[in-house]
Amino acid sequence: MDNTRLIRQLPKAELHLHIEGSLEPELMMQLAKKHKVTLPYQSIEQVKQAYNFDNLQSFLDLYYLGASVLRDEDDFYQLMWRYLLKCREENVVHCELMFDPQTHTERGIGFDIFMPGFLRAIEQAKQQWGQSCLLIMCFLRHLPEQSALQTLQQAQPYLDHIEAVGLDSSELGHPPEKFTQAFAEAKKMGLKAVAHAGEEGPPDYIWSAINTLKVDRIDHGVRSIEDPALMTLLKEQQIPLTVCPLSNIKLCVFDHMSQHNILKLLDAGLLVTVNADDPSYFGGYLNDNFLALDQHLGLQSEQIKQLVSNSFNASFLDDRTKQLWLDKIQTGSL
Ligand code: ADE
Ligand code: ZN
Repeated sequence: MDNTRLIRQLPKAELHLHIEGSLEPELMMQLAKKHKVTLPYQSIEQVKQAYNFDNLQSFLDLYYLGASVLRDEDDFYQLMWRYLLKCREENVVHCELMFDPQTHTERGIGFDIFMPGFLRAIEQAKQQWGQSCLLIMCFLRHLPEQSALQTLQQAQPYLDHIEAVGLDSSELGHPPEKFTQAFAEAKKMGLKAVAHAGEEGPPDYIWSAINTLKVDRIDHGVRSIEDPALMTLLKEQQIPLTVCPLSNIKLCVFDHMSQHNILKLLDAGLLVTVNADDPSYFGGYLNDNFLALDQHLGLQSEQIKQLVSNSFNASFLDDRTKQLWLDKIQTGSL
């Protein structure tokens, strides 16, 4: 079987996807019209042309602007539903999706608006084709820790539907230890933890996410390669890295896909996975990320299977369910 077919056919898990980053220009323009929100774009073409980023911040500015069209319950349902349809199309059988409550609560849109919309779509996909989906509630690191603690309180009625907390937004200048208390509180509530670290920020931020926030996995983490002692820790403890190849190119973390370090991390024995991050902004969903790696780095079929197996091993699924998917990948009984 050729790699393209293998990538498409394998059952996969997506572990690093911001649901607000799956807002396609078509839906953005439709909702802007519905709610009479003025955006600096006249057409879908113009939206796409604007998606040229120099760094993380230049992307985040447009990402928060895009999210401003999400207003009522049905908008959040539509956003989630469209992404879950993609999962079915791409054979992403399990997904762990990040959402940014503060992007909405700061605009006066509460948990009672976005959570019912998300949950309605998730339940429908589960009923219709057995989609498996967990939610990760992210704190915006450019805001004070107090705001994260308040978000944790607001989330109380929905904790049964939230698997973990995460940390995203502007990395430089906002080290993980700024959120030590919020993560400790979340852990006490039984939530798991992840954090973006080592995307633009230095390896020190990865150390801090592990040692002070006690995260279960690191989002991005590609800069770990600069620190041999950190590489040893990540390998020995098999702390997963959720790597996002197309994102890294669009945000200039690497100049070109042929320079991406994911295979070096994999060869070093780290538990690395492939993910889409913000597919509508970065030019592709999960399969496109694998295909871009294959095109520019030349993947062996065993490497594809390893990366896909890693996505289940690094997930928050129970061991039995993990094993069912791992067996399917190994035996090829798809
Ligand atoms: N929010 C959405 N995508 C992000 C990324 N790649 N890094 C940090 N924050 C984000
Ligand atoms: Zn991300």
